[in-house]
Amino acid sequence: MYKAKAYSVTSETSPFASTTIDRRDPTEHDVQIEILFCGICHSDLHQARNEWSGMMPTVYPCVPGHEIVGRVTKVGSAVTKFKPGDLAGVGCMVDSDGTCPECQAGLEQFCNNFVLTYNFPDSHIGGVTYGGYSDSIVVKDHFVLKVPDNLDLAGTAPLLCAGITTYSPMRHWGITQGKKVGVVGLGGLGHMAVKFAHALGAHTVVFTTSPSKKEDALRLGADEVVLSKDANEMAKHAGSFDFILDAVAAEHDINAYINMLARDGNITMVGAPATPLPVGAFGLIFRRRSFSGSLIGGIAETQEMLDFCSQHNITSDVEVIPIQKLNEAYERLVRSDVKYRFSIDMASLKSE
Ligand SMILES: NC(=O)c1ccc[n+]([C@@H]2O[C@H](COP(=O)([O-])OP(=O)(O)OC[C@H]3O[C@@H](n4cnc5c(N)ncnc54)[C@H](OP(=O)(O)O)[C@@H]3O)[C@@H](O)[C@H]2O)c1
Ligand SMILES: [Zn+2]
Ligand SMILES: [Zn+2]
Repeated sequence: MYKAKAYSVTSETSPFASTTIDRRDPTEHDVQIEILFCGICHSDLHQARNEWSGMMPTVYPCVPGHEIVGRVTKVGSAVTKFKPGDLAGVGCMVDSDGTCPECQAGLEQFCNNFVLTYNFPDSHIGGVTYGGYSDSIVVKDHFVLKVPDNLDLAGTAPLLCAGITTYSPMRHWGITQGKKVGVVGLGGLGHMAVKFAHALGAHTVVFTTSPSKKEDALRLGADEVVLSKDANEMAKHAGSFDFILDAVAAEHDINAYINMLARDGNITMVGAPATPLPVGAFGLIFRRRSFSGSLIGGIAETQEMLDFCSQHNITSDVEVIPIQKLNEAYERLVRSDVKYRFSIDMASLKSE
């Protein structure tokens, strides 16, 4: 074992503070990575503050971070995919059983035995896994992604969660040219969804509660922007969408969006508000609409997404911060005051 620098929270109300954590020495299938950038996902905030206590209670101290980009520093003897010096990425998962039907299908995110990057039992050294708000991490090679070298690294980090979480459902629901796609909530996930929907050729409409994001939405690739608080603007789109991706992190009226779907349209929830959302039956019954969810994406599809981003020159719009600004960044994230993802420059951890 060795010590790594990190930032952790010690309770649901405490601020982040500098600490050191134990990391395992790389075993034969492991890749050790020096972390260069880590994005701040709203899931990090939900978990740091134990907002998902019913589903996955937070174990403290907690080191979040699952949008990791860095450089390989060491590999185990059985690792062939990476060598020291390579760029590498790690997303939300660091292990799974590899044998169940989900793993065999390349859908590790649905494996009953998967291990998430933080706040999950760590079978190697005990305790729980610690995420990317740290200067290094050790991960089984299967869960380490190849990072293209033509993209800005700070903006690439958020692809590992926000990117794959929005890319995967669009591929699953067959988004192509000619489809009308709605994106609800222009945050970290939402702005990636706009970029993907646009790149896939769909007519893309953004629903936002923030008037200040209207121009950005168009710049990011939206064809239309709707202020969701404006009933007249909302009414114009009734019954017209093939697909809507809902990426809102808080309580909101999902039925307003269900009613915007065309016949056989689908709305997929990727946002994970802490409290349940009431769904009216009639919105679904009429026009045979469906309401579903989606969880990140498998490892092979994550690599496909990174390669797609490399080809289409897609990265996340980031505000790069030193790790010392973490607490301030969390306060701003709650207020939807980030355009559109914080990316922590891990060089700032060296001075701790
Ligand atoms: N399913 C998965 O695999 C997965 C993966 C990652 C994250 N998530 C979840 O996805 C959600 C979004 O994550 P994120 O990192 O994109 O968060 P984020 O950057 O905070 O974006 C959320 C956006 O939702 C909108 N919003 C916020 N409060 C709202 C309210 N009260 N009513 C209506 N809209 C509101 C805002 O957009 P506007 O300003 O445009 O309205 C905000 O920018 C979180 O719950 C996160 O845990 C799920
Ligand atoms: Zn995330
Ligand atoms: Zn499995």
